[in-house]
Amino acid sequence: MTQHLVVPAQSARSGGGEPAPQRTGWWRDAVIYQVYPRSFADANGDGMGDLAGIRSRLPYLRDLGVDAVWLSPFYASPQADAGYDVSDYRRVDPMFGQLGDAARLIEDAHALGLRVIFDLVPNHCSDQHEWFQQALREGPGSALRKRFHFRAGKGENGELPPNDWESIFGGPAWTRITEPDGTPGEWYLHLFAPEQPDFDWDHPAVADEFRSILRFWLDLGVDGFRIDVAHGLVKAKGLPDLGMHDQLKLLGNDTMPFFDQDGVHEIYRSWRPILDEYPGERIFVAEAWTPTVARTANYVRPDELHQAFNFQYLATPWAAEKLREVVDLTLEAMRPVGAPATWVLSNHDVTRHATRFANPPTDATQIRTPGDRELGLRRARAATVLMLALPGSAYVYQGEELGLPDVTDLPDEVRQDPSFLRASGQDGFRDGCRVPIPWSGAEAPYGFGPASGGPSWLPQPAEWAELSVEVQSGDPTSTLELYRSALAIRAAHPALGAGDGVEWLDAPAGALAFRRTHADGAFVCVANTGSSPVRLALPVPGRLLLTSGEEPVREGEETVVPADTTVWWSL
Ligand code: NOJ
Repeated sequence: MTQHLVVPAQSARSGGGEPAPQRTGWWRDAVIYQVYPRSFADANGDGMGDLAGIRSRLPYLRDLGVDAVWLSPFYASPQADAGYDVSDYRRVDPMFGQLGDAARLIEDAHALGLRVIFDLVPNHCSDQHEWFQQALREGPGSALRKRFHFRAGKGENGELPPNDWESIFGGPAWTRITEPDGTPGEWYLHLFAPEQPDFDWDHPAVADEFRSILRFWLDLGVDGFRIDVAHGLVKAKGLPDLGMHDQLKLLGNDTMPFFDQDGVHEIYRSWRPILDEYPGERIFVAEAWTPTVARTANYVRPDELHQAFNFQYLATPWAAEKLREVVDLTLEAMRPVGAPATWVLSNHDVTRHATRFANPPTDATQIRTPGDRELGLRRARAATVLMLALPGSAYVYQGEELGLPDVTDLPDEVRQDPSFLRASGQDGFRDGCRVPIPWSGAEAPYGFGPASGGPSWLPQPAEWAELSVEVQSGDPTSTLELYRSALAIRAAHPALGAGDGVEWLDAPAGALAFRRTHADGAFVCVANTGSSPVRLALPVPGRLLLTSGEEPVREGEETVVPADTTVWWSL
């Protein structure tokens, strides 16, 4: 097993009973922890995580050393896409609790010095949303249908979809409805599942409604929003055909008539002043899949959103040259707009990085084979230590701090990913990263819920007993203690955190090395992504702060960094 140095926690944050801290630009270097409410902690024992469970575990997150918590959706929802199908944007789904639980969660988090970010889903709602249900009842041409994209079908009897767009989850992006009089009727657009009809953002009522929803949660005290499908709200005029099949292949490479249209930016420019009216530096982070980091930068211009996820970084394999390139591209793209870079390795939509890096290099984000677990974990630890050294803000997905792998062998009957059920869509194996996390004990649900409760909504593997928070706490070789140490050092070291550049140092092939300098102290990070040790002709690099694996060895003027290891030094 690997080892690393444990530095006592020395957080820059204030704690205990105070409102959210007022540090200017907190989001420029924040470490934001993603909670997937279904799978974090189950207080009532129904096998499904809930808000009360999350509240009970907030001290764990404070001790881990993160600055903020982002919660995936917990709103009223039929759960066709695990809550990304919202039927009432102002209600908490009873399976997660009540509005009071959300309010208390924000209060408790603030008292611990943590900020709270909620997920806003503005591209589509649930087909059970009151507006959509009314649109179905009112018939063609009605006022409510205009809030969605209803169209007559093509073909002699309207039996063909209005255009050739494909759903991200597979199949056509259109579903035909039966009109109130029982006849086959219009079609409506859904970029995701049929249960997720897209709003028509050209309709003023849609824009008004979302401004009101923003205020509703801001009034409750939330510190910001992650915007789901931020790149999708505006569709090209006339909904033009793409003229090809297998459109998913284009995602992330080309501008599509339904993604990354310039019109989306007007919406964000209209949202920003609302957020700025509220005290306490509240923020927006965009989930925007765009062809390039340069296009992503458009979302974080000074009058738009604060941050955007860096999916190009997430999709980069564990390979020094490629990593260096994406770091440079990111920093170059963000500099002109003055936004912080963000770094992310895992979330609820992609295979966990411990499993991605256990498999042969790929830019695919969903992988179905466990690969070499030990190697994957070693690389995941090194990748995280590298990520946390980069200038800007970083995202951590629940369970990665435990080194959890994806569960690649879930039985088909338990899978709930709508994409899996539609069979032909975007991979569909997202359940593997959504398995409830282990807290303690030798038997499932490993403290996720009470032992007397029902089985967790997705089964946890037997090996996870060994990966629980309880087992890893206090073990200096554990991944949990590595994260705690890294976050504490990151918060305390003057050269870490916010910034817009790194100074690259010479490094042998397969490794990357950079320096970050601050008046109060400099810092060097070396990541060896290769499978054998590298020798660096670095001058005495200073005091060793942290290593993701074995300690580097000094040999004369050289420093030998082990394979698949990232090391931090303070100068
Ligand atoms: C992105 C979310 O992260 C994903 O989980 C969801 O399925 C789609 N958006 C649709 O809302």
